[in-house]
Amino acid sequence: MSDHILVERADGVMKVVMNRPDKKNALTEAMYAALGDAIEAAHAERDIRVIYFTGADGAFTAGNDLGDFAKQGSEPAGTSQEERPVSRFLRLISTAEKPIVAGVNGLAVGVGVTMLLHCDLVYAGSAATFQMPFVNLGLVPEAASTYLLPKVAGLQKASDLFLTGRKVDAEEAESMGLVAQVFPGDMLQEEAYGRARMLAAKAPTSVKLTKALLRSGEASAVASQMAKEAEHFAAQLRSDEVKEAISAFFEKRPADFSRFG
Ligand code: COA
Repeated sequence: MSDHILVERADGVMKVVMNRPDKKNALTEAMYAALGDAIEAAHAERDIRVIYFTGADGAFTAGNDLGDFAKQGSEPAGTSQEERPVSRFLRLISTAEKPIVAGVNGLAVGVGVTMLLHCDLVYAGSAATFQMPFVNLGLVPEAASTYLLPKVAGLQKASDLFLTGRKVDAEEAESMGLVAQVFPGDMLQEEAYGRARMLAAKAPTSVKLTKALLRSGEASAVASQMAKEAEHFAAQLRSDEVKEAISAFFEKRPADFSRFG
């Protein structure tokens, strides 16, 4: 396991911590690979009943590492024939049979939010924030979020979040249905991890069946939307729009899209 992903096992819960605090826990390819490995291991281990995701040091995750995006965008089309670690992670999280609980302990950006749509119980600390700046980066949303978020929050709220890329606080995220419950920041880990432990003590087959029943109607729509998004995402990643957005981020200036379109 990468040091950037910490995995602990206790009381039937696999706790998975995104741990790259100097970069706000932004996810590299190696981290996605380790997250995928953790989900697979959790399913292989009989004693693990629940997966619990959280972040280290006051951030959940700042989303995909933008340096990695830039690198991938400069590869010729079709370079990678293998499933990329991010795609494997999204496939595994969206098809997991065991329940997943998230404790959002701070900022969640991009995939840090879209992954929550595949978590069964999402708890947030009061200082957590949620932002999906895909359009600001010249990208499109992923993880079937363009299908799931309108279902969860309604089309207007989903369009607001995706098209403006604005950041919402924990209270608003709860009112939209992205979050089950908000706790004071210093209580989050105790409360959210406590819920994960409580779930791990319940009848495992009953829990897995209930999760499957709650999500079964949407499995094929999720998979097909994820594939559509991935096609546009890969094309946009190689676009000049993304090059401009990522250069602007690292040069700490606003992006200028005036020459495109
Ligand atoms: N990829 C790579 N590096 C990232 C990153 C990311 N997604 N998010 C943050 N970082 C790095 C910053 O470059 C900075 O590095 P430095 O100290 O070497 O300059 C460090 O993490 C701290 O980030 P900083 O921007 O100083 O913190 P902040 O609290 O002011 O802002 C964010 C935090 C997350 C709002 C801001 O960093 C941001 O917008 N990041 C990009 C998020 C993003 O677009 N993710 C992809 C979504 S699809």
